[in-house]
Amino acid sequence: MPNKQILKNTNAEILNQFNASLLFDKKLYLQDIKGSIAHSKMLALQGIISIDDQDSIEKGLLQIKEEIENRQFVWKIEDEDIHMAVENRLSQIIGTPAGRLHTARSRNDQVATDFTLYVQDKTLDIKEKLKKLITTFVDIASKHSDTLIPGMTHLQHAQPINFGFHMLAYANMFKRDFERFTSSYERNNYSPLGSAALAGTPHNIDRFKTAELLGFTAPTNCALDSSSNRDFALEILFNIATSMMHISRISEELILWSSYEFGFVRMSDEYATTSSIMPQKKNPDVPELLRGKTGRAYGNLIGLLTVMKGLPLAYNKDTQEDKEGVFDSVETIEISLDILTAVMETLIINKENMEKACKIGHLTATDLADYLVQKQNIPFRTAYYITKDVVAYANGLTKDVSELTIEEVRASSSELQSVSEDIIDCLNLRNSMNARQSFGGTSTSETNHQVKIFVDWLSKN
Ligand code: ARG
Repeated sequence: MPNKQILKNTNAEILNQFNASLLFDKKLYLQDIKGSIAHSKMLALQGIISIDDQDSIEKGLLQIKEEIENRQFVWKIEDEDIHMAVENRLSQIIGTPAGRLHTARSRNDQVATDFTLYVQDKTLDIKEKLKKLITTFVDIASKHSDTLIPGMTHLQHAQPINFGFHMLAYANMFKRDFERFTSSYERNNYSPLGSAALAGTPHNIDRFKTAELLGFTAPTNCALDSSSNRDFALEILFNIATSMMHISRISEELILWSSYEFGFVRMSDEYATTSSIMPQKKNPDVPELLRGKTGRAYGNLIGLLTVMKGLPLAYNKDTQEDKEGVFDSVETIEISLDILTAVMETLIINKENMEKACKIGHLTATDLADYLVQKQNIPFRTAYYITKDVVAYANGLTKDVSELTIEEVRASSSELQSVSEDIIDCLNLRNSMNARQSFGGTSTSETNHQVKIFVDWLSKN
């Protein structure tokens, strides 16, 4: 027979571990201490606690911060979470006044406040990192607005574009991400502190004061909502998932472009790894990992959406499951942005191979059809069939249409026998790219114009 007492102890230990969030929510110690100092100040200002008590509470909390940062703090799983760990230590240090700190609040509004503060802090950090990445893309764009590369649809050669224009596509994606973080920051910058357990408090508190002390725009409006709301966490998870999707798309292109088949770019040796068995290989592990890590960012978003979906108002312990996914997504995006920026900054760009690739797939065939429509007033459908003949003729010569001479063009179709010499200009790859001067188009001049717009935006954000 197993000893019943031992069984009971073991169960209690397992339960403690199961119930506790301390092992992961200790990350919130700074926000917890900041929130408690603001709360104590407000309580003193309102005459709810004495100035002396506030003073010893604040000193005690600052001592706890030191202890945590100097790794002297003793973490005990029995404390359950960061809030109780700090409060229990505070009573050890200052005695009775510690018991007054929790007046007019509950752990429900406390955790919502701490976590909102964390999400807001991290939102600002991520925005800075996004800005660096955007700057890197714009910088490459400014240097490569005349570097030809095949523009693709369906991963098939379509029309000649320039590499700078391709980089600006990513700069635009990350700019939208940046703006998404700005907007969620503003929307969520409201203080839940003082909502208490779910219904507010009978104490004469000043929630506007704590909101102000913590850098929030104002207090939240409904205690019932804000003691259990986790939209701010969902928004950062969505923003991160979307940014990771963009990171994954450029990573995929880097992987393709650095393959032998493309040979457009080479990643600096620091960011390419070797194979343990094939000594000749250089593998794009870094962009592959960036692409792979997108999975966990999506998972964390779906995870929290699922946690929240069936919860009756207000706080439920399920909500404790909100933190690890957010911490993980934040850490993932932060390192991913740093690494992608470094990869892009050191990327070796092979202009010759990019340009060579433009001579595969008759990228200027559409320009030829457009020329016939514009210059010869031929209906587009007829021009389309004439162009098909020219393409077939070029294939017969194993040439790209951009390489045909005027004699060859004239020989390619009965309709073109006496076509004027300037038809050759429209077949030229660079001319084709430069013809697209519409706003947001690929021409070098429009790419340079868009770079200017970005430089201006960067200086204002
Ligand atoms: N550790 C808890 C969490 O992260 C804090 C709030 C606990 N509140 C409660 N009523 N049990 O959600």
